[in-house]
Amino acid sequence: MNHDPLSSSATKATGMNRRTFLRGTTAGLALFNILPGTIVQGAGRISANDKVNVAGIGVGSQGGGDIGAVAGEGQNIVALCDVDDNYAAKTFQKYPDAKKFKDFRVMFDQMGKGIDAVVIGTPDHTHALIAMEAMRRGKHVYCEKPLAHDIREVRTLMAAARKHKVVTQLGNQGHSSGSIRQLCEWVWAGAIGPVHTVHASCDAFKEVYCQLSKLDKLGAHYDVPQGLDYDLWVGPVPFRPYTPFWVPWNWRGWMPFGSGTIGDWFCHVMDPSFWALDLDAPTSVRAEVTDYDPVKQGLTYPPGSKVTFEFPAKNGRGPVKVVWHDGNTTIPRPAGFSADDKVQGTGAVLFGAKGMIVHGSHGAGGCYLTPETLMDQHSGKNAPPQKLPRIKGHAWDWIDAIRTGRQAGSHFGYGGPLTQTALIGAIAIRFPNETLLWDDHKMKFTNNNAANALVAPPYRKGWKI
Ligand SMILES: NC(=O)c1ccc[n+]([C@@H]2O[C@H](COP(=O)([O-])OP(=O)(O)OC[C@H]3O[C@@H](n4cnc5c(N)ncnc54)[C@H](O)[C@@H]3O)[C@@H](O)[C@H]2O)c1
Repeated sequence: MNHDPLSSSATKATGMNRRTFLRGTTAGLALFNILPGTIVQGAGRISANDKVNVAGIGVGSQGGGDIGAVAGEGQNIVALCDVDDNYAAKTFQKYPDAKKFKDFRVMFDQMGKGIDAVVIGTPDHTHALIAMEAMRRGKHVYCEKPLAHDIREVRTLMAAARKHKVVTQLGNQGHSSGSIRQLCEWVWAGAIGPVHTVHASCDAFKEVYCQLSKLDKLGAHYDVPQGLDYDLWVGPVPFRPYTPFWVPWNWRGWMPFGSGTIGDWFCHVMDPSFWALDLDAPTSVRAEVTDYDPVKQGLTYPPGSKVTFEFPAKNGRGPVKVVWHDGNTTIPRPAGFSADDKVQGTGAVLFGAKGMIVHGSHGAGGCYLTPETLMDQHSGKNAPPQKLPRIKGHAWDWIDAIRTGRQAGSHFGYGGPLTQTALIGAIAIRFPNETLLWDDHKMKFTNNNAANALVAPPYRKGWKI
């Protein structure tokens, strides 16, 4: 049965206190067993008591935070690599004993077996290149989300992780939260009945993802700042002269380097549904965009997009429709919402036959059931049995996996398809109002060759993965 959740009516909520419940789900991440998974047997075997020697690559911003989380787990930060001395200076100073590098290839050559594992916090367009180099050399990899910038890269990384038997972790840190596990257990216990539709959204940093106002300024000449190796920053994608409009941080709004809001946020906001519903590849995608001409303006992303994915039935569940909204488009208020239900700017609503789950970002933050009678039936003493271990954190999970020879929770076999779906959506945005049909086995769209050119765009001369 295909419901339209945005127009269906739902039972009125009753007076249970959700805030009390939310405090309960986010607090007290009890430490149980770790997630079962593939036993990793490749290079870099480390005993449970040894410290892991970790290198950070791209540490000026998020990568510096990720390295901090790994250091917080008591591991050795042995090397730091960044193309920008000034931007990375704060992180460099924090770890005086770490060797400093500008070029990751030089770092790997010089450090050799002195590095067991790497944390990658570079912009999206260099993730794959660096992660491949690390895995080829037998290093375990924590790579920021999205896993890569094009779909061919995603597939290459997934295959390499299997081949080299290394421990991998995508940087969608909410995957290690208690709230995402609570959401999965509700879905699996049938708390809202069979889930048929998910609406997800992100309204953050609109002016960063949509850089239309900067398009006509791109012709101006800017000197490359001292201390920045811009050629290495560009890496494998076609060279474009330096501009401060994309270095640092704002690259995420420019198509050659980033994948817009959907690329930046899908791996956070859709992670709960991906896990709970065992989604992998959609069979079709259709984007609608606001105030935007992809031919004239297609270097940056539109002010708003709505992207609809259809996922086929799988393992006993029915088909699932996922509707992604970003920028100035938002999730329409579901008809079944009660007065105190709020549509999240960045978050999602899962629609089932019996009700809804509402949540925010980063691991289903603040998730709750509505109508509120469902909370009475499925929380507190009525909560479904915990099927998933509650763990200490995302960096902890990766480090523990390395030391105990298991796979981490958001390994590339999971984070790959999650990223791939975001990238399929980012491609669809460039072909608005067209339904693109995706053949996952053949890794191609069956009805649009121009879209296929974006699945595996050529690398700049001199670079390959
Ligand atoms: N998990 C999260 O919550 C979260 C939050 C923010 C960013 N991110 C992700 O982290 C990554 C970095 O984002 P950011 O906002 O920190 O970007 P940024 O531009 O602010 O920082 C990137 C850093 O990488 C360095 N760098 C660039 N190319 C390099 C190369 N080839 N070799 C070595 N260093 C290089 C830059 O000099 C800079 O220090 C992105 O993939 C982004 O999606 C994740």
